[in-house]
Amino acid sequence: MAAWRRAIDLFRRKLNKTDRQFVESYLDEAGLFLFNQMSYADQKHAVTVARYLLSEKVDTSKANLSLLIQGALLHDVGKVKGEISWWNRIQVGLIRRFLPSLRVKWAKRGEAGLSHALYVDLHHPDRGAYMAQSLGIDPSVVSLIKHHHDETGEPASIELALLRSADAKN
Ligand SMILES: [Fe+2]
Ligand SMILES: [Fe+2]
Repeated sequence: MAAWRRAIDLFRRKLNKTDRQFVESYLDEAGLFLFNQMSYADQKHAVTVARYLLSEKVDTSKANLSLLIQGALLHDVGKVKGEISWWNRIQVGLIRRFLPSLRVKWAKRGEAGLSHALYVDLHHPDRGAYMAQSLGIDPSVVSLIKHHHDETGEPASIELALLRSADAKN
């Protein structure tokens, strides 16, 4: 279901007022600047992940909630609006899921279409962390962005563990 919802969100444009107010209540000006340069689909995904973390389904009692929600809202900022077409985005989703070995092989910076889309998808945690750091975002939030797709080792913090699992479900 989540995959379909995300595919449909590719064709919408703007967050509704409630979502927008929610985002503005957690992010400062630099955070909003980063958030605003994502596509609607990525913004909506970020809001869904953040709201999920605030729902009763998740135990956040040991987490720093403000950092966690900022991390949730900014975790995909390395994906910049307009860089990837909706068609390439769907292809990337399918390749990530069903052909993971081709992901690295086909990913090339600056190439046209799918290769560049795979490159952006593969490197968005590092890119996003770099962008956030440059704008003076809290180092703990930068670290959440940088490591949200790490596959090896125990998550460095409770916030990272919660973010990774919420991201995977949404
Ligand atoms: Fe991501
Ligand atoms: Fe994500």
